[in-house]
Amino acid sequence: MGLRFSRLGSVAAAGVLAFALAACSGGGAGSGGGAPEAGGATQAPEDLLVGVSMPTQTSERWIADGNSVKEQLEAAGYKVELQYANDDIPTQSQQVDQMITQGADLLVIAAIDGTALSSQLQAAKDSNIPVISYDRLIRDSPNVDFYVTFDNFQVGVAQADALLTGLGLKNKDGSAGTATGPFNIELFAGSLDDNNAFFFFNGAMSVLQPLIDSGQLVVKSGQTSIEQAAILRWQQETAQKRMEDLLTGAYNDGSKVNGVLSPYDGLSRGIITALQNAGYGGAGNPIPVVTGQDAEIASVKLINDGVQSSTIFKDTRLLAEQAVVAAKAYLGGTQPEANDTETYDNGVKVVPSYLLPIVTVYKDDIQKELIDSEYWTAEEVASGQAG
Ligand code: BGC
Repeated sequence: MGLRFSRLGSVAAAGVLAFALAACSGGGAGSGGGAPEAGGATQAPEDLLVGVSMPTQTSERWIADGNSVKEQLEAAGYKVELQYANDDIPTQSQQVDQMITQGADLLVIAAIDGTALSSQLQAAKDSNIPVISYDRLIRDSPNVDFYVTFDNFQVGVAQADALLTGLGLKNKDGSAGTATGPFNIELFAGSLDDNNAFFFFNGAMSVLQPLIDSGQLVVKSGQTSIEQAAILRWQQETAQKRMEDLLTGAYNDGSKVNGVLSPYDGLSRGIITALQNAGYGGAGNPIPVVTGQDAEIASVKLINDGVQSSTIFKDTRLLAEQAVVAAKAYLGGTQPEANDTETYDNGVKVVPSYLLPIVTVYKDDIQKELIDSEYWTAEEVASGQAG
């Protein structure tokens, strides 16, 4: 089916310029910058190139995200350039630069540092290339057209609820549990250059702060600010080290940690390793309640084995699908439909967003949410390994 660039075509002069620039740069699979063909002729999907920039392959979710976006775009006929940046900011900047040079007609970007891509986005804007911010909001730039993500504040709320449920202060249905506490907890947050880290932490603290204030929850280390709790680049080893330091610092008097708020499964595994190395999980010394996010297979196994308490499942297949819906809209000359036009202010503008719902997974939910939905197989859950 031919596609007509009515929206992009309306800025004909810029489009012609972009077309000329792309031609000068050696072109590529795409026409360059979503530019309309001369005379507003239509373009087939196979003449259009989508650049997909993902942060890292060290976490399963981004590999799954990248693959799903690529597969779904290719199924719709588009050409796709998919790159992973190894959690290195200059690498991601270079990769995005290169996609623009190659003549990308649209960019889908999950940023490592949400503020580090401004000059690339300006170049995209100058070439009339729509930019979709994927899962992580790109900040401090007017040149972000759309944002697809999950309800990130709700992720934090759900993590805090799961912590309280694990401690017995709440039941799964939200009603009050039988436990009364007080309980010792510690707080972890994500990378401060990732806008999501703030949404997760703020969502969690909206639930936990009143209980900290009333003394039912005690953060024994006293480290309650996001800056103190943050783990740069979401690194598992850094989380393990911080947990070790907390144990040798705040818990060297024989007191026990009862729960840990962890925003991501990779961090949770580092935290659990530190706890186990300190003797937790042995006889008479239960492993604390540890939360998570992403339903990574190694953590799903830990949940199945009763070691990690919960995770938040975000079905990346659905996120990829939304990114593709938005991409098709732009490439077809229309605007994608947002379901949130208030929450995501990137410092320059409120970016129209499409938010997807999230699911809390405890051991009892693995079958229904992860296996029946074909996210993981029963064998993968049992082995803790994908594939
Ligand atoms: C994502 C999480 C992920 C984290 C670490 C966040 O931006 O929303 O799903 O756990 O990055 O990769």
